[in-house]
Amino acid sequence: MSDLAKEINKRRTFAIISHPDAGKTTLTEKFLLYGGQINLAGSVKGKATARHAVSDWMDIEKERGISVTSSVLQFNYGGYCINILDTPGHQDFSEDTYRTLMAADSAVMVIDGAKGVEPQTRKLFKVCARRGIPIFTFFNKMDRDARDTFELVDEVEKELGIATCPINWPIGSGKNFKGVYDRTTGEIVEFADTLKGTKEGTETRIKLDDVEASTAAIGEEAREQLLEEIELLDGAAAEFDQELVNKGQLSPVFFGSALTNFGVEIFLEHFLEMTMSPLPRVSNEGVIDPVEKNFSAFVFKIQANMNKAHRDRIAFMRICSGKFEAGMNVWHVQGNKQVRLLQPQQMMADERHVVDEAFAGDIIGVFDPGIYSIGDTICTPPDKFQYAGIPTFAPEHFARVRLEDSLKRKQFVKGIEQIAQEGAIQIFQESNYGMEEIIVGVVGVLQFEVLQYRLKNEYNVDIILENLPYEFIRWIKNTDIDLDTINGTSDMKKVRDLKGNPLLLFVNSWSIGMTLDRNDGLELEEYSEN
Ligand code: G4P
Repeated sequence: MSDLAKEINKRRTFAIISHPDAGKTTLTEKFLLYGGQINLAGSVKGKATARHAVSDWMDIEKERGISVTSSVLQFNYGGYCINILDTPGHQDFSEDTYRTLMAADSAVMVIDGAKGVEPQTRKLFKVCARRGIPIFTFFNKMDRDARDTFELVDEVEKELGIATCPINWPIGSGKNFKGVYDRTTGEIVEFADTLKGTKEGTETRIKLDDVEASTAAIGEEAREQLLEEIELLDGAAAEFDQELVNKGQLSPVFFGSALTNFGVEIFLEHFLEMTMSPLPRVSNEGVIDPVEKNFSAFVFKIQANMNKAHRDRIAFMRICSGKFEAGMNVWHVQGNKQVRLLQPQQMMADERHVVDEAFAGDIIGVFDPGIYSIGDTICTPPDKFQYAGIPTFAPEHFARVRLEDSLKRKQFVKGIEQIAQEGAIQIFQESNYGMEEIIVGVVGVLQFEVLQYRLKNEYNVDIILENLPYEFIRWIKNTDIDLDTINGTSDMKKVRDLKGNPLLLFVNSWSIGMTLDRNDGLELEEYSEN
């Protein structure tokens, strides 16, 4: 195997998706702990300290009032080079969260064992499932009283529509959480000395078949119960099938407690083996093999304002093939120009640093003088192919934006178009208004504040935001349909995006159904590929 192939094959690039508070940050941190990248020992509150370290970059931006970062962490573990794409939840939830998933080769879905599938998990899962990438389930917080294990697994199957295959199984929960049973080896795995999760701790493996040793380890009652559950599971659960996992049709399931480290390393080990090295990507010239082609990448996120004084931006690229070397001349396909990738940087555990080289699977951020757009492709000449674009995801919050001082129309249009180009907001026009009054759609409400703040600070424009009641947007698939002839509900609104595509805004899903019923042949879409 060539050195290039070796480098690429050891890469694992994935996103962690979850509903806020399920434990995504804690789990990420524990991965770093096992990767030897952070030291939690000695910290009274390990988590808070480490979190501070890994999210410094974000904090800086928060101070500036424009936190919209999905950071990328790279670290090594067990011969693998791991890239974790952080998908911001909480108030940072935005379209970037969805776009980040376009750069991942697989996803780890963290679910709170006491809560089960929650709304944000559902949304993020949908985006991953649509791409058909492998999805792994980690039921977290098993050190707390969790819901019935079979019920949890069943909920994932029913609510998300994906088959599951438990790889390990919890032994009790809450105070009685003793460890996990590894179905691949038939062993009980016990954990000790993790010092409330601040140390890696030790792992003891005991064969469940060894009656004496396993009874001594977990007690007779827990052993009996485990035997019963395993028998049920063996009869009912799907068998592990790597091919189905690769297609995103079967989710391997794990249980553990990120807080106490129980089940974290065993998850990491299995997951790294089952997930895939950088996947080939589809371009307009066919599928691009990560190893065979020279350097190529696509832009999945643009981060504005890293340095306010310069209004500069960072374009985040996912490398899809070959090797990146600092200073190389590359071809920016959409710009139809040769460019140099300037100030390339990467996040390594807790710091940003300049990269000299990077490989397919890695994410780099490069200085963007304002030339890149989301979805753009970068190739090595003479290649000039284009990767399939990143869809536009449906905003869920809408507001009418009005200019306070109509004399500033020019700055307003410039600012708002620029911010839309970066992908922070989507703008729509009602057919009877010009650009003085537009409708802005966002995935996360914080983006409204970002918009207001940035227009004021960067363009010296004050705006008035009027919230609108719409929650659903649909693109119209039938290109031949005349927007004016669509017969919708009275609370529906017809708008166009910047490219002139017709769209419909709805206040509830009932109106969507009504409109579909009333207009024979009308086809609506939640995403736009244009
Ligand atoms: P998120 O990134 O998905 O939003 O979740 P995060 O890791 O921040 O965890 C949310 C809360 O859940 C934190 O508590 C964290 O300590 C706790 N938690 C995470 N994993 C586990 C687990 O395996 N077991 C238990 N019992 N709790 C877990 P917090 O009180 O909000 O924060 P802190 O006071 O601990 O900093």
